[in-house]
Amino acid sequence: MKSVLLDKSRHDRKRFDCGVKALNNYLQLMASQQLKKDNTRTFILEDEQHPQFIKGYYSLTMTTIDLNALPPRLRKKHQNANSAGLIARLAVDRRYSRKGFGEWLLVDALAKLLTASETVAFPFIIVDSKEGMAPFYEKFGFSSFLDTPDKLFITVADVRNIL
Ligand SMILES: CC(C)(COP(=O)(O)OP(=O)(O)OC[C@H]1O[C@@H](n2cnc3c(N)ncnc32)[C@H](O)[C@@H]1OP(=O)(O)O)[C@@H](O)C(=O)NCCC(=O)NCCS
Repeated sequence: MKSVLLDKSRHDRKRFDCGVKALNNYLQLMASQQLKKDNTRTFILEDEQHPQFIKGYYSLTMTTIDLNALPPRLRKKHQNANSAGLIARLAVDRRYSRKGFGEWLLVDALAKLLTASETVAFPFIIVDSKEGMAPFYEKFGFSSFLDTPDKLFITVADVRNIL
């Protein structure tokens, strides 16, 4: 399997339905514009039989990090840090759910951010999870920020070790 950049002339964005309206809308209305403006990169996992069908997607960008919301040990170690890679969105179409594609997309997103961090360094990767979905990320070593349980982080060093 291989993810590819969103291509609005190839991918059927209207068909995509992950069950969460905001995530459907983002893919259908925003992702392509945001890509063109260099704000986010959206990667697609295509259906091999019908490459225009989208199995799932994620969007990557950068964000700032609130050091005060980190556990004290990490806050001290990374006191000069100010940026992090962000998995801004991640979703799988309902027709393809519970087949491991969500986990595959998460690992693929982490691998891409790890590669990016080798050129433009940042020490954390952050994800804004949907309510109740934190365990999906905790399985991979993410931890919740102290003040926001649905916002999670992992250090790039840990991602390097895992991958
Ligand atoms: C969450 C989501 C990305 C998971 O994608 P998926 O391809 O169905 O997930 P996987 O098959 O890789 O599942 C891996 C594990 O994640 C967990 N998981 C998946 N969907 C879940 C759900 N709806 N609720 C709770 N846990 C879930 C399970 O532990 C699952 O393992 P299992 O099937 O052996 O029980 C997908 O359901 C989705 O897009 N949901 C709507 C949007 C959303 O909630 N995004 C979450 C990130 S913000």
